[in-house]
Amino acid sequence: MNPYRFCVAPMMDWTDRFDRYFLRLLSRHMRLYTEMLTANAVLHGDRVRLLGFDAAEHPVALQLGGSDPAALAEAAKIGAGFGYDEINLNVGCPSDRVQSGRFGACLMAEPELVARCVDAISKAVPHLPVTVKCRIGIDRQSPEEILPRFIATVRDAGCAVFIIHARMAWLEGLSPKQNRDVPPLDYSLAHRMKAEFPALTVVLNGGLHSLDDALPHLDCMDGVMLGRAAYHNPYLLADVDSRLFGDRVPPPSRVQVIERLLPWAEEQVGQGVPLHCITRHIIGLFQGQPGAKSWRRYLSENAHKSNAGIEIIRDALACVVDSDLARAAA
Ligand SMILES: Cc1cc2nc3c(=O)[nH]c(=O)nc-3n(C[C@H](O)[C@H](O)[C@H](O)COP(=O)(O)O)c2cc1C
Repeated sequence: MNPYRFCVAPMMDWTDRFDRYFLRLLSRHMRLYTEMLTANAVLHGDRVRLLGFDAAEHPVALQLGGSDPAALAEAAKIGAGFGYDEINLNVGCPSDRVQSGRFGACLMAEPELVARCVDAISKAVPHLPVTVKCRIGIDRQSPEEILPRFIATVRDAGCAVFIIHARMAWLEGLSPKQNRDVPPLDYSLAHRMKAEFPALTVVLNGGLHSLDDALPHLDCMDGVMLGRAAYHNPYLLADVDSRLFGDRVPPPSRVQVIERLLPWAEEQVGQGVPLHCITRHIIGLFQGQPGAKSWRRYLSENAHKSNAGIEIIRDALACVVDSDLARAAA
């Protein structure tokens, strides 16, 4: 089965290693992405803290940001040493900080530079897929014209997988958050890119709220990538293995997910990880269920306390079960 069929998007401050471990409990087959790390952070920062991850997270891709081919190549080599399954280059992030460093979405205007980066990374980690996550264009570009040229140029440097966030980034005037919502989505252009480049793996990203939203795109695309929906309502991922990968193993219940999380969470807390670093990512697990509010509130009010241990998660679960029972009895 195509390993890119279902991916969870790289999200800064969200898809850290704690979130990814939790998400992995919901689907064995989906592909996970790290938050973007700049090449410089990898080269000069605390590598174990930035790059360390749990073997259970596989398959997991390291997303890098940068535009210096040599620095990216070196960072990719370091990432490969940590065991990542893919190196993904960020050509979609619109933040100011990133523009001033000349990387992220502004590189949509410099396909030759992106090609040089991909070439350098591919040579540094020849055993790993080197992929690109891009927009359909920026500012005053015409996506219809520039996107096929961008893809062809970067493909010729060795990139065989493109993840297309199917909206432009308007770098002049919109905040990063607005740039995830305001420019209109153009799914049909992404579909046309797959038709025009059938040998490439093309993954669609942007504005997909559920598996029902995502599934029809798989008729013509190789994969779909969900970001915010997967983060805010992670339980939607429990159906990924059966609905997208034909896996016959029944989806875990929410309670089972938490039960499987607890031993690992206990180990992490034992190693000095503050409990809230884990619980902040599991707040949405019961979204739409009776007791969701008590779950959220209990975790938010208690996980920050000093010496908070995993009993906080157990107690929060008891709130959900109690409110379930209360509902059933009413
Ligand atoms: C909080 C947050 C942080 C993000 N950080 C990154 C990032 O580090 N790298 C990246 O390529 N995209 C980043 N994105 C964009 C997402 O990967 C994705 O392209 C975007 O949210 C659209 O998908 P969605 O509509 O399914 O959320 C981020 C999005 C959010 C909400």
